[in-house]
Amino acid sequence: MTASRLTTNAPYSAPPTKQEIASLLTDARDRTLLLISGLSDEDLHQQHDPLMSPIIWDVGHIAHFEELWLTQNLDGPIEFSEMPGMYNPFEHPRATRASLALPTLSQMKMRLEEIRSRVLDRLETVEFDESNPLLRDAYVYHMVLQHEYQHNETILQTLQLKKGEPYHAPRARTFPTGQPARKSMVEFPGGRVTIGTDDRSAAYDNERPLHEIELAPFLIDRDPVTDSRYLEFIADGGYQHPDLWSEGGRRWLAETKAIAPKYWNRDGDHWTSRTMDLTRHVDPARPVCHVCYYEAEAFAKWDGKRLPSEFEWEAAASWDAARGQARAFPWGNAADAKLANVDQLSFDTAPVGTFEHNVSPIGCRGMIGDVWEWTSSDFHGYPGFHSFPYKEYSEEFFGSDYKVLRGGSWATRPGAIRNTFRNWDYPIRRQIFSGFRCAQDA
Ligand SMILES: [Fe+2]
Repeated sequence: MTASRLTTNAPYSAPPTKQEIASLLTDARDRTLLLISGLSDEDLHQQHDPLMSPIIWDVGHIAHFEELWLTQNLDGPIEFSEMPGMYNPFEHPRATRASLALPTLSQMKMRLEEIRSRVLDRLETVEFDESNPLLRDAYVYHMVLQHEYQHNETILQTLQLKKGEPYHAPRARTFPTGQPARKSMVEFPGGRVTIGTDDRSAAYDNERPLHEIELAPFLIDRDPVTDSRYLEFIADGGYQHPDLWSEGGRRWLAETKAIAPKYWNRDGDHWTSRTMDLTRHVDPARPVCHVCYYEAEAFAKWDGKRLPSEFEWEAAASWDAARGQARAFPWGNAADAKLANVDQLSFDTAPVGTFEHNVSPIGCRGMIGDVWEWTSSDFHGYPGFHSFPYKEYSEEFFGSDYKVLRGGSWATRPGAIRNTFRNWDYPIRRQIFSGFRCAQDA
Protein backbone atom coordinates (compact mmCIF):
# COMPACT_ATOMS: atom_id res chain seq x y z
CA MET A 1 0.00 0.00 0.00
CA THR A 2 1.41 3.36 -0.91
CA ALA A 3 0.31 6.90 -0.47
CA SER A 4 -0.30 7.92 -4.06
CA ARG A 5 0.79 11.48 -3.53
CA LEU A 6 1.24 13.83 -0.67
CA THR A 7 -1.84 15.93 -1.27
CA THR A 8 -4.20 16.95 1.40
CA ASN A 9 -7.90 16.31 1.13
CA ALA A 10 -10.38 19.09 0.64
CA PRO A 11 -9.95 21.82 3.23
CA TYR A 12 -11.74 21.07 6.48
CA SER A 13 -13.97 24.03 5.98
CA ALA A 14 -15.16 25.63 2.77
CA PRO A 15 -14.66 29.41 2.93
CA PRO A 16 -17.65 30.55 4.99
CA THR A 17 -19.75 33.60 4.28
CA LYS A 18 -19.88 36.32 6.90
CA GLN A 19 -23.47 35.33 7.54
CA GLU A 20 -22.36 31.76 8.26
CA ILE A 21 -19.64 32.95 10.60
CA ALA A 22 -22.10 35.11 12.50
CA SER A 23 -24.51 32.23 12.92
CA LEU A 24 -21.72 29.87 14.05
CA LEU A 25 -20.69 32.44 16.65
CA THR A 26 -24.29 32.68 17.83
CA ASP A 27 -24.65 28.92 17.98
CA ALA A 28 -21.44 28.58 20.01
CA ARG A 29 -22.60 31.19 22.51
CA ASP A 30 -26.10 29.74 22.78
CA ARG A 31 -24.59 26.40 23.69
CA THR A 32 -22.26 27.86 26.31
CA LEU A 33 -25.17 29.69 27.90
CA LEU A 34 -27.41 26.61 27.71
CA LEU A 35 -24.83 24.54 29.59
CA ILE A 36 -24.66 27.02 32.45
CA SER A 37 -28.31 28.11 32.40
CA GLY A 38 -29.43 26.15 35.45
CA LEU A 39 -26.49 27.16 37.63
CA SER A 40 -26.51 29.62 40.52
CA ASP A 41 -23.86 32.28 40.93
CA GLU A 42 -22.49 30.16 43.76
CA ASP A 43 -22.20 27.13 41.45
CA LEU A 44 -20.46 29.27 38.87
CA HIS A 45 -17.95 30.83 41.25
CA GLN A 46 -17.11 27.80 43.34
CA GLN A 47 -13.98 25.77 42.70
CA HIS A 48 -15.55 22.34 42.38
CA ASP A 49 -12.21 20.61 42.10
CA PRO A 50 -8.59 21.82 42.27
CA LEU A 51 -8.14 20.52 38.70
CA MET A 52 -10.76 22.83 37.29
CA SER A 53 -11.44 26.55 37.05
CA PRO A 54 -14.57 28.09 38.50
CA ILE A 55 -17.00 27.90 35.57
CA ILE A 56 -17.42 31.67 35.44
CA TRP A 57 -13.66 31.91 34.73
CA ASP A 58 -14.05 29.68 31.67
CA VAL A 59 -16.87 31.91 30.45
CA GLY A 60 -14.81 35.08 30.93
CA HIS A 61 -11.80 33.44 29.30
CA ILE A 62 -13.94 32.48 26.28
CA ALA A 63 -15.06 36.11 25.94
CA HIS A 64 -11.61 37.65 26.29
CA PHE A 65 -9.99 35.14 23.96
CA GLU A 66 -12.59 36.16 21.40
CA GLU A 67 -11.93 39.84 22.04
CA LEU A 68 -8.19 39.31 21.68
CA TRP A 69 -8.39 37.48 18.36
CA LEU A 70 -11.47 38.89 16.67
CA THR A 71 -11.05 42.56 17.48
CA GLN A 72 -7.54 43.53 18.55
CA ASN A 73 -5.60 40.97 16.51
CA LEU A 74 -7.42 41.70 13.28
CA ASP A 75 -5.77 45.10 13.26
CA GLY A 76 -2.23 43.89 13.65
CA PRO A 77 -0.58 41.02 15.47
CA ILE A 78 -0.29 41.14 19.22
CA GLU A 79 1.01 38.56 21.63
CA PHE A 80 -1.17 36.05 23.41
CA SER A 81 0.44 37.32 26.61
CA GLU A 82 -1.51 40.56 26.10
CA MET A 83 -4.65 38.70 27.10
CA PRO A 84 -6.15 40.55 30.08
CA GLY A 85 -4.49 39.35 33.28
CA MET A 86 -7.43 37.80 35.08
CA TYR A 87 -8.28 35.46 32.22
CA ASN A 88 -4.76 34.65 31.13
CA PRO A 89 -4.32 30.96 31.94
CA PHE A 90 -0.55 31.29 32.23
CA GLU A 91 -0.78 34.00 34.89
CA HIS A 92 -3.30 32.16 37.02
CA PRO A 93 -3.06 28.38 37.47
CA ARG A 94 -6.44 26.66 37.70
CA ALA A 95 -6.26 25.99 41.43
CA THR A 96 -5.94 29.73 42.21
CA ARG A 97 -8.70 31.06 39.99
CA ALA A 98 -11.46 31.01 42.62
CA SER A 99 -9.59 33.72 44.55
CA LEU A 100 -9.79 36.16 41.60
CA ALA A 101 -12.35 38.98 41.69
CA LEU A 102 -14.55 37.32 39.09
CA PRO A 103 -17.73 39.13 38.01
CA THR A 104 -21.25 37.92 38.71
CA LEU A 105 -23.13 36.10 35.97
CA SER A 106 -25.17 39.17 35.06
CA GLN A 107 -22.02 41.32 34.84
CA MET A 108 -20.40 38.58 32.78
CA LYS A 109 -23.35 38.40 30.39
CA MET A 110 -23.06 42.12 29.76
CA ARG A 111 -19.37 41.68 29.06
CA LEU A 112 -20.08 38.80 26.67
CA GLU A 113 -22.63 40.87 24.77
CA GLU A 114 -20.44 43.94 24.64
CA ILE A 115 -17.50 42.01 23.21
CA ARG A 116 -19.70 40.09 20.81
CA SER A 117 -21.26 43.24 19.41
CA ARG A 118 -17.81 44.68 18.64
CA VAL A 119 -16.81 41.34 17.07
CA LEU A 120 -19.87 41.38 14.80
CA ASP A 121 -19.27 45.02 13.85
CA ARG A 122 -15.71 44.19 12.92
CA LEU A 123 -16.82 41.13 10.96
CA GLU A 124 -18.77 43.38 8.61
CA THR A 125 -15.65 45.16 7.43
CA VAL A 126 -13.00 42.45 7.77
CA GLU A 127 -11.35 41.28 4.56
CA PHE A 128 -10.35 37.65 4.30
CA ASP A 129 -6.98 38.53 2.92
CA GLU A 130 -5.50 35.56 1.02
CA SER A 131 -1.98 36.60 1.95
CA ASN A 132 -2.69 36.64 5.67
CA PRO A 133 -2.84 33.08 7.11
CA LEU A 134 -4.84 34.32 10.06
CA LEU A 135 -7.59 35.67 7.82
CA ARG A 136 -7.38 33.40 4.80
CA ASP A 137 -10.53 31.24 4.69
CA ALA A 138 -11.57 32.91 7.96
CA TYR A 139 -9.08 30.76 9.89
CA VAL A 140 -9.09 32.95 12.99
CA TYR A 141 -12.87 32.69 13.28
CA HIS A 142 -12.69 28.90 13.18
CA MET A 143 -9.97 29.01 15.79
CA VAL A 144 -12.07 31.13 18.14
CA LEU A 145 -15.12 28.92 17.57
CA GLN A 146 -13.10 25.80 18.35
CA HIS A 147 -11.77 27.46 21.46
CA GLU A 148 -15.30 28.02 22.75
CA TYR A 149 -16.27 24.44 21.84
CA GLN A 150 -13.25 23.10 23.70
CA HIS A 151 -14.06 25.15 26.78
CA ASN A 152 -17.60 23.75 26.66
CA GLU A 153 -16.08 20.32 27.17
CA THR A 154 -13.90 21.66 29.99
CA ILE A 155 -17.03 23.11 31.63
CA LEU A 156 -18.70 19.70 31.34
CA GLN A 157 -15.75 18.07 33.13
CA THR A 158 -16.28 20.59 35.91
CA LEU A 159 -20.02 19.96 35.97
CA GLN A 160 -19.40 16.23 36.35
CA LEU A 161 -17.17 17.08 39.36
CA LYS A 162 -19.74 19.55 40.69
CA LYS A 163 -20.10 19.77 44.46
CA GLY A 164 -23.56 19.69 46.03
CA GLU A 165 -26.56 18.69 43.98
CA PRO A 166 -25.61 17.00 40.69
CA TYR A 167 -25.88 18.97 37.49
CA HIS A 168 -29.22 18.57 35.73
CA ALA A 169 -28.06 17.61 32.27
CA PRO A 170 -30.19 18.96 29.39
CA ARG A 171 -30.27 15.59 27.61
CA ALA A 172 -31.55 15.71 24.06
CA ARG A 173 -30.87 12.09 23.16
CA THR A 174 -30.97 8.70 24.92
CA PHE A 175 -29.88 5.29 23.76
CA PRO A 176 -31.42 1.89 24.33
CA THR A 177 -29.30 -0.58 26.25
CA GLY A 178 -27.18 -2.54 23.84
CA GLN A 179 -25.55 -5.93 23.73
CA PRO A 180 -21.93 -6.29 24.81
CA ALA A 181 -19.78 -6.35 21.70
CA ARG A 182 -18.07 -9.53 20.75
CA LYS A 183 -14.32 -9.35 21.07
CA SER A 184 -12.74 -8.66 17.77
CA MET A 185 -9.80 -6.96 16.17
CA VAL A 186 -9.25 -5.72 12.65
CA GLU A 187 -5.98 -5.74 10.76
CA PHE A 188 -4.14 -2.82 9.30
CA PRO A 189 -1.77 -4.27 6.70
CA GLY A 190 0.94 -1.66 7.19
CA GLY A 191 2.72 0.46 4.59
CA ARG A 192 3.09 4.13 3.86
CA VAL A 193 0.29 6.37 5.03
CA THR A 194 -0.22 10.07 5.46
CA ILE A 195 -0.58 11.56 8.92
CA GLY A 196 -1.86 15.04 9.72
CA THR A 197 -3.00 17.66 7.29
CA ASP A 198 -1.98 20.79 5.44
CA ASP A 199 -5.40 22.32 6.02
CA ARG A 200 -5.22 26.04 6.80
CA SER A 201 -8.94 26.64 7.19
CA ALA A 202 -9.56 25.08 10.60
CA ALA A 203 -6.82 22.63 11.65
CA TYR A 204 -4.59 23.52 14.58
CA ASP A 205 -0.87 23.95 14.14
CA ASN A 206 -0.16 20.61 15.87
CA GLU A 207 -2.09 18.73 13.13
CA ARG A 208 0.26 20.08 10.46
CA PRO A 209 2.13 19.38 8.30
CA LEU A 210 0.78 16.47 6.33
CA HIS A 211 3.57 13.90 6.22
CA GLU A 212 4.16 10.30 5.29
CA ILE A 213 5.19 7.57 7.67
CA GLU A 214 5.74 3.85 7.32
CA LEU A 215 3.65 1.63 9.60
CA ALA A 216 4.28 -2.02 10.36
CA PRO A 217 1.21 -4.27 10.15
CA PHE A 218 -0.89 -4.24 13.32
CA LEU A 219 -4.20 -5.35 14.77
CA ILE A 220 -6.50 -2.93 16.52
CA ASP A 221 -9.73 -3.41 18.48
CA ARG A 222 -12.79 -2.97 16.34
CA ASP A 223 -14.55 -1.17 19.21
CA PRO A 224 -13.39 0.87 22.15
CA VAL A 225 -12.95 -1.27 25.29
CA THR A 226 -16.39 -1.74 26.84
CA ASP A 227 -17.52 -1.75 30.45
CA SER A 228 -18.12 -5.47 30.04
CA ARG A 229 -14.46 -6.13 29.29
CA TYR A 230 -13.37 -3.68 31.94
CA LEU A 231 -15.52 -5.49 34.54
CA GLU A 232 -13.65 -8.69 33.64
CA PHE A 233 -10.36 -6.89 34.24
CA ILE A 234 -11.56 -5.70 37.66
CA ALA A 235 -12.96 -9.11 38.59
CA ASP A 236 -9.68 -10.74 37.60
CA GLY A 237 -7.84 -8.52 40.10
CA GLY A 238 -6.48 -6.15 37.46
CA TYR A 239 -5.97 -3.37 39.97
CA GLN A 240 -4.17 -5.74 42.36
CA HIS A 241 -1.56 -7.26 39.99
CA PRO A 242 1.50 -4.98 40.17
CA ASP A 243 3.07 -6.67 37.13
CA LEU A 244 0.30 -5.29 34.91
CA TRP A 245 1.19 -1.72 35.86
CA SER A 246 4.09 0.39 34.68
CA GLU A 247 6.23 2.19 37.22
CA GLY A 248 4.18 5.38 36.79
CA GLY A 249 1.02 3.34 37.03
CA ARG A 250 2.10 1.70 40.30
CA ARG A 251 2.89 5.12 41.73
CA TRP A 252 -0.53 6.39 40.67
CA LEU A 253 -2.24 3.32 42.16
CA ALA A 254 -0.40 3.72 45.47
CA GLU A 255 -1.42 7.38 45.67
CA THR A 256 -5.05 7.04 44.62
CA LYS A 257 -5.87 3.50 45.82
CA ALA A 258 -8.12 3.31 42.76
CA ILE A 259 -10.07 0.08 42.23
CA ALA A 260 -12.32 1.13 39.32
CA PRO A 261 -12.85 3.99 36.85
CA LYS A 262 -13.67 7.40 38.29
CA TYR A 263 -17.39 7.81 39.07
CA TRP A 264 -17.88 4.05 39.54
CA ASN A 265 -19.21 2.74 42.85
CA ARG A 266 -19.73 -0.75 44.12
CA ASP A 267 -23.32 -1.54 44.99
CA GLY A 268 -23.43 -5.05 46.48
CA ASP A 269 -22.56 -7.38 43.61
CA HIS A 270 -22.92 -4.64 41.03
CA TRP A 271 -21.10 -1.54 39.96
CA THR A 272 -22.89 1.70 39.30
CA SER A 273 -21.58 4.67 37.36
CA ARG A 274 -22.69 8.27 37.47
CA THR A 275 -22.87 10.78 34.65
CA MET A 276 -24.06 14.12 35.96
CA ASP A 277 -27.49 13.45 37.54
CA LEU A 278 -27.86 9.91 36.17
CA THR A 279 -26.63 6.94 38.20
CA ARG A 280 -27.23 3.46 36.89
CA HIS A 281 -25.78 -0.02 36.79
CA VAL A 282 -22.68 -0.08 34.66
CA ASP A 283 -23.89 -0.89 31.14
CA PRO A 284 -21.69 -3.65 29.71
CA ALA A 285 -22.23 -2.49 26.13
CA ARG A 286 -20.85 1.03 26.49
CA PRO A 287 -17.25 2.13 26.14
CA VAL A 288 -15.50 2.47 29.48
CA CYS A 289 -15.06 6.14 30.38
CA HIS A 290 -13.07 8.12 32.95
CA VAL A 291 -9.97 5.95 33.00
CA CYS A 292 -6.47 7.37 33.08
CA TYR A 293 -3.63 6.39 30.76
CA TYR A 294 -2.17 4.02 33.36
CA GLU A 295 -5.44 2.13 33.69
CA ALA A 296 -5.65 1.82 29.90
CA GLU A 297 -2.06 0.58 29.78
CA ALA A 298 -2.64 -2.01 32.54
CA PHE A 299 -5.82 -3.28 30.91
CA ALA A 300 -4.02 -3.65 27.58
CA LYS A 301 -1.28 -5.70 29.20
CA TRP A 302 -3.86 -7.87 30.98
CA ASP A 303 -5.56 -8.42 27.61
CA GLY A 304 -2.24 -9.45 26.01
CA LYS A 305 -2.18 -6.26 23.95
CA ARG A 306 -0.83 -2.72 24.03
CA LEU A 307 -2.15 0.76 23.33
CA PRO A 308 -1.93 1.98 19.72
CA SER A 309 0.43 4.81 18.86
CA GLU A 310 -1.37 7.94 17.73
CA PHE A 311 -0.21 7.18 14.19
CA GLU A 312 -1.69 3.69 14.27
CA TRP A 313 -4.89 5.20 15.66
CA GLU A 314 -5.03 7.81 12.91
CA ALA A 315 -4.32 5.31 10.13
CA ALA A 316 -6.99 2.95 11.52
CA ALA A 317 -9.50 5.83 11.55
CA SER A 318 -8.62 7.48 8.29
CA TRP A 319 -6.61 5.47 5.79
CA ASP A 320 -8.56 4.66 2.66
CA ALA A 321 -6.29 2.15 0.92
CA ALA A 322 -8.44 2.02 -2.20
CA ARG A 323 -7.87 5.73 -2.82
CA GLY A 324 -4.39 5.97 -1.27
CA GLN A 325 -5.65 8.88 0.82
CA ALA A 326 -6.68 9.68 4.33
CA ARG A 327 -10.26 10.61 5.18
CA ALA A 328 -11.11 13.51 7.45
CA PHE A 329 -13.63 11.33 9.33
CA PRO A 330 -13.96 7.54 9.53
CA TRP A 331 -16.98 7.62 7.19
CA GLY A 332 -15.57 10.05 4.62
CA ASN A 333 -14.56 13.66 4.18
CA ALA A 334 -17.82 15.40 5.04
CA ALA A 335 -18.42 16.49 8.61
CA ASP A 336 -21.74 15.10 9.84
CA ALA A 337 -22.58 15.44 13.51
CA LYS A 338 -25.44 12.97 13.19
CA LEU A 339 -23.09 10.09 12.44
CA ALA A 340 -21.37 9.91 15.82
CA ASN A 341 -22.09 10.37 19.50
CA VAL A 342 -20.80 13.93 19.79
CA ASP A 343 -22.15 17.41 20.51
CA GLN A 344 -23.22 17.15 24.16
CA LEU A 345 -26.64 15.83 23.24
CA SER A 346 -26.62 12.55 25.15
CA PHE A 347 -24.51 13.33 28.23
CA ASP A 348 -23.47 9.72 28.02
CA THR A 349 -21.62 7.20 25.96
CA ALA A 350 -23.68 5.05 23.57
CA PRO A 351 -23.60 1.24 23.36
CA VAL A 352 -20.90 0.35 20.85
CA GLY A 353 -22.20 0.03 17.31
CA THR A 354 -25.13 2.43 17.89
CA PHE A 355 -23.92 4.70 15.07
CA GLU A 356 -23.79 2.32 12.12
CA HIS A 357 -21.99 4.71 9.74
CA ASN A 358 -19.26 5.60 12.22
CA VAL A 359 -16.97 2.97 10.73
CA SER A 360 -13.50 3.48 9.27
CA PRO A 361 -12.32 1.93 6.00
CA ILE A 362 -10.69 -1.00 7.85
CA GLY A 363 -13.79 -1.52 10.00
CA CYS A 364 -13.01 0.23 13.29
CA ARG A 365 -16.20 1.48 14.93
CA GLY A 366 -16.81 4.55 17.02
CA MET A 367 -13.48 6.23 16.53
CA ILE A 368 -15.13 9.64 16.56
CA GLY A 369 -17.23 10.46 19.60
CA ASP A 370 -18.20 8.66 22.83
CA VAL A 371 -14.78 8.73 24.54
CA TRP A 372 -11.39 10.25 23.85
CA GLU A 373 -9.00 7.36 23.28
CA TRP A 374 -5.62 7.21 24.96
CA THR A 375 -2.68 6.42 22.71
CA SER A 376 0.85 5.40 23.67
CA SER A 377 2.33 8.53 22.05
CA ASP A 378 3.91 11.47 23.82
CA PHE A 379 2.83 14.87 22.52
CA HIS A 380 5.38 16.24 20.03
CA GLY A 381 5.35 18.48 16.99
CA TYR A 382 5.33 16.75 13.61
CA PRO A 383 8.46 17.06 11.46
CA GLY A 384 8.49 20.62 10.13
CA PHE A 385 6.08 21.89 12.80
CA HIS A 386 5.57 25.64 12.91
CA SER A 387 3.74 27.20 15.76
CA PHE A 388 0.77 29.20 14.49
CA PRO A 389 -0.69 31.56 15.47
CA TYR A 390 0.53 31.34 19.08
CA LYS A 391 2.92 28.97 20.77
CA GLU A 392 0.81 28.76 23.92
CA TYR A 393 -1.71 26.48 22.20
CA SER A 394 0.55 23.51 21.39
CA GLU A 395 4.24 24.10 21.53
CA GLU A 396 4.40 24.96 25.23
CA PHE A 397 3.11 21.46 25.97
CA PHE A 398 5.37 19.38 23.71
CA GLY A 399 7.37 16.75 25.53
CA SER A 400 7.04 13.47 27.38
CA ASP A 401 4.83 14.77 30.19
CA TYR A 402 1.69 14.40 28.10
CA LYS A 403 0.03 11.53 26.26
CA VAL A 404 -2.00 12.08 23.10
CA LEU A 405 -5.71 11.28 23.02
CA ARG A 406 -7.75 11.01 19.83
CA GLY A 407 -11.29 10.93 18.55
CA GLY A 408 -13.34 13.23 20.79
CA SER A 409 -16.10 12.31 23.21
CA TRP A 410 -19.85 12.75 23.62
CA ALA A 411 -18.96 16.12 25.16
CA THR A 412 -17.04 17.35 22.11
CA ARG A 413 -18.72 19.73 19.73
CA PRO A 414 -18.46 18.51 16.12
CA GLY A 415 -16.47 21.55 14.98
CA ALA A 416 -13.63 20.50 17.27
CA ILE A 417 -13.08 16.92 16.17
CA ARG A 418 -11.74 15.11 13.09
CA ASN A 419 -9.33 12.24 12.46
CA THR A 420 -6.25 14.45 12.65
CA PHE A 421 -7.30 16.31 15.83
CA ARG A 422 -4.83 15.82 18.70
CA ASN A 423 -5.70 16.26 22.34
CA TRP A 424 -3.19 15.71 25.15
CA ASP A 425 -3.18 15.33 28.90
CA TYR A 426 -1.20 14.01 31.84
CA PRO A 427 -1.33 10.21 32.09
CA ILE A 428 -2.92 10.44 35.56
CA ARG A 429 -5.94 12.42 34.42
CA ARG A 430 -9.39 10.84 34.36
CA GLN A 431 -11.85 13.63 34.96
CA ILE A 432 -11.73 13.91 31.15
CA PHE A 433 -14.11 11.78 29.07
CA SER A 434 -11.45 9.21 28.31
CA GLY A 435 -11.45 5.58 27.27
CA PHE A 436 -9.28 3.57 24.88
CA ARG A 437 -8.96 0.69 22.48
CA CYS A 438 -6.05 -1.75 22.27
CA ALA A 439 -3.68 -2.80 19.53
CA GLN A 440 -1.28 -5.63 18.87
CA ASP A 441 1.58 -6.33 16.47
CA ALA A 442 0.28 -8.40 13.57
FE1 LIG B 1 -8.47 28.55 26.50
